[in-house]
Amino acid sequence: MRIPLDRHSGTPLYRQIEGYLRRSIVSGSLAPGTRLSATRRLAQDLGVSRMTVENAYAELEADGLVAARVGSGTYVLSPYPVPRATRTADVAWPLWQEDLSAMGTERSHPTPEELLRVAGHPHPIDLSSGVGDPRLFPADEFRKVLQNLLRRDPIGALAYGDRRGYEPLRSTIAHVLASQGIQTSAEDILITAGSQQALALTAQVLLNRGDVILVESPTYGSGLDLFRALGLTIVGVPTDEHGMQVEQLEPLLQKHHPKLVYTIPNFHNPTGSCMSGHRRRQLVGLADRYNVPVLEDDFVGDLRYEGHAQPALKALDPGGRVIYTSTFSKMLMPGLRVGFVVAEGPFHERLVEHKRVSDLATSNLIQRALQAYVTVGRYQAHLRRTRRVYRRRRDAMLQAIDRFLPSGTHVTSPQGGLFIWLHLPEGISSAELLPLACDRGVAFAPGPAFFPAPDAGQSFARLSFVAQPPEDIGIGIARLGWAIEKLA
Ligand SMILES: Cc1ncc(COP(=O)(O)O)c(C=O)c1O
Repeated sequence: MRIPLDRHSGTPLYRQIEGYLRRSIVSGSLAPGTRLSATRRLAQDLGVSRMTVENAYAELEADGLVAARVGSGTYVLSPYPVPRATRTADVAWPLWQEDLSAMGTERSHPTPEELLRVAGHPHPIDLSSGVGDPRLFPADEFRKVLQNLLRRDPIGALAYGDRRGYEPLRSTIAHVLASQGIQTSAEDILITAGSQQALALTAQVLLNRGDVILVESPTYGSGLDLFRALGLTIVGVPTDEHGMQVEQLEPLLQKHHPKLVYTIPNFHNPTGSCMSGHRRRQLVGLADRYNVPVLEDDFVGDLRYEGHAQPALKALDPGGRVIYTSTFSKMLMPGLRVGFVVAEGPFHERLVEHKRVSDLATSNLIQRALQAYVTVGRYQAHLRRTRRVYRRRRDAMLQAIDRFLPSGTHVTSPQGGLFIWLHLPEGISSAELLPLACDRGVAFAPGPAFFPAPDAGQSFARLSFVAQPPEDIGIGIARLGWAIEKLA
């Protein structure tokens, strides 16, 4: 590869090499999947030391533009995760941008999905995803509902709408929740842009930088990213197959005086577990005794394939202690960006106001279409079908795990949701396993992304059983088994 270098410039040579490659990747002249020259070879071609080339590659890797694979080489990734605030050799940012850069930029590591793409397997199988199977989205039905709506009431549908959310949709949600034992009304419901916004607004209203939030360890990775971005101090509460170990909560409440406890009691992300009824009651009791709010994230509560549902924490709350959030992302389609929060009292009012100053309102058009879709009974029919399909896929994955994964791998069978949580055999780390598995054509979500503590979780992997048909699940798990055996 010919890279023009200016040996008299004040810019170090490694920066010049990095800048040249960066521009080539961003412009597309080095396509994703391209293998970069070996460092020794490029160093010879350019007449520089090997260390100079290694430093250039390391910068690109830190920014998620390339990925090194042991024994195979360094490959170009898709350029879209480029952190734009990173200064390149020949771009002079204005001073305010430099100040941001001096504060440190977020490094985006390649995702399992990107690693899988770069590996270039002819039939890749992605088990890392956190969403349902897009092939099951009721796209046609939703298009018809939208068209109908725009024909009937275009002005109403295209206005800002109510800042708490479309009232008939809130009433429908209240009605559905009542059937699950949550006594609420449209007045106490706020529609949000997905439940991620519900998490963000709740944390912003209740916590300041440095305040302590208690979370399950492990827990939802993008929840952790959010709490870190808000500068919160995150303390993990251990979990087992019955959810958060609430018995261990009291000393943590006494020691850390948290401002919020965040929990995913149903079909937990990533473990798939459900919190026992006894622990639910204990948790609501402790929240009352220690005057701490609980944020209950019920992201897939309706995706139960067997067994009996435990009462929602919100249903056990005499009023004002538990903040409940759920979403249409997993049960229907994530692109709707519709979630909601149920909460009462002054907190509810603060939340509504915070939502208003953040984004004015969630799309009125989509809320009205969703309301129309739900009321004609299509949502319930879609849920029934989805449950049937996902249940078969869960069973297919459990059978494949039994058949193809070596002894020493532990799983618990989830009664619903999206995920199976794998405890890898002794001595196998998910960081080492992932590139090998991707080369073989299967990706999973590595454990550390779900733990609040920096070095925890290497012996775990999260597998999604909903995003692939049963045949591909079998092939994917067989490939994973091969990769584990290889490492062992
Ligand atoms: C546990 C959990 N909570 C909340 C969310 C946020 O989803 P959304 O904002 O699409 O509703 C997710 C998404 O994966 C999740 O897994």
